[in-house]
Amino acid sequence: MMNYLRNHLGAKLLLSYLFVIVVGVFVLVIASQWTLPTAFNRHMNGVGFGMMHGQGAGGGMMQDLYSGYRASFNEALTYAALAASVVAVIVGIMLSRRVIAPVRAMMNASQRIAEGSYEERVQVQSADELGQLAVRFNQMAEKLEQVESMRRRLIGDVSHELRTPLTAIKGSMEGLMDGVLPATHETYQQIHSEADRLNRLVDDLQELSRVEARAYQLVVRPVDVLSIVQMVSKRLAPQFEAKRIALELDLPADLPRLLADEDRTVQVLTNLVANAIQHTAVDGKVMISAVRVNDEVEISVRDNGIGIPSEHLAHIFDRFYRVDKSRSRRTGGGSGIGLTIAKHFVEAMGGRLWAESDGESKGSVFTFTLPVAK
Ligand SMILES: Nc1ncnc2c1ncn2[C@@H]1O[C@H](COP(=O)(O)OP(=O)(O)OP(=O)(O)O)[C@@H](O)[C@H]1O
Ligand SMILES: [Mg+2]
Repeated sequence: MMNYLRNHLGAKLLLSYLFVIVVGVFVLVIASQWTLPTAFNRHMNGVGFGMMHGQGAGGGMMQDLYSGYRASFNEALTYAALAASVVAVIVGIMLSRRVIAPVRAMMNASQRIAEGSYEERVQVQSADELGQLAVRFNQMAEKLEQVESMRRRLIGDVSHELRTPLTAIKGSMEGLMDGVLPATHETYQQIHSEADRLNRLVDDLQELSRVEARAYQLVVRPVDVLSIVQMVSKRLAPQFEAKRIALELDLPADLPRLLADEDRTVQVLTNLVANAIQHTAVDGKVMISAVRVNDEVEISVRDNGIGIPSEHLAHIFDRFYRVDKSRSRRTGGGSGIGLTIAKHFVEAMGGRLWAESDGESKGSVFTFTLPVAK
């Protein structure tokens, strides 16, 4: 019995109703013991009968009258208590069903989620705390479902990305062993560059997982835009030279300092400028500009390169997304992680990053904002 009570919310609720009724009846009985005789006397006096403690036949009659009254009062009280208990049991059962049904539904749903059915949801039937709990439960389930699908996609993407260079290396090695491929410097160079790609991919993945798990520290302090731009242009000077691409700067003299992590900002800008160089033809042009807009500085990297078709614009920040996968592989392009990481960093520093392009061969503009240092 105690065990049943301990394990069932409905039984506890019902018991608490019955307890309230018992207490009520008890209080009523005690109170009537105290107050009934005096109240009876007072009212009887009021209508002209003698006092209960009066003498003679009148007193005896009053005594009988009182006993009769008392007995009927007790009888009525018993019936009332019984009726109240029956009503309490019925209401208790109905109410506890209403309370327990959603709780039980959530219990079952969480069990199924734990078993891997992430699409499980519960019905929200009320606006009270239980209803809110159901809403929160559904939000949690949705988040879990998203995380799970992200995990699946990531594994799919990663294995796909790893397979390509591995297949190339394996093919070249087989060609060498069968004597189909000549054992020249070029062949080895090709194998080496595929292995290199693999290496870079693993490094990028490591960085991506660190960034997505937010396992890094930002050192936010006032930083100078010009010094960041200079660092980036120095770092990428060989690439600019190799493609004879001109770098133009448009930085107003009165530009305020940024409130940002210097290293991460350099990393973001390096990423954008390296992309611009990569996607711009020889003798092209890349321009870095900055402008203050309210409490932010907008930094843009503009190129006159191959541009980005509008249907790809929304996706280029997704991990592993490349507009032209085969081309980027041929040209030794990256793994499509750079922009994903850049966006993460910019947003972690309280800014936004977006891309614009008028279409193929119309060039592209990548802009990010960062807060102004007060
Ligand atoms: N300036 C640009 N002009 C045209 N296309 C661009 C430009 N910048 C990025 N893209 C497109 O967006 C894709 C994603 O860029 P992202 O920097 O994320 O990856 P990636 O450069 O291919 O590889 P990595 O991970 O090494 O940076 C590129 O593959 C390219 O198709
Ligand atoms: Mg890139």
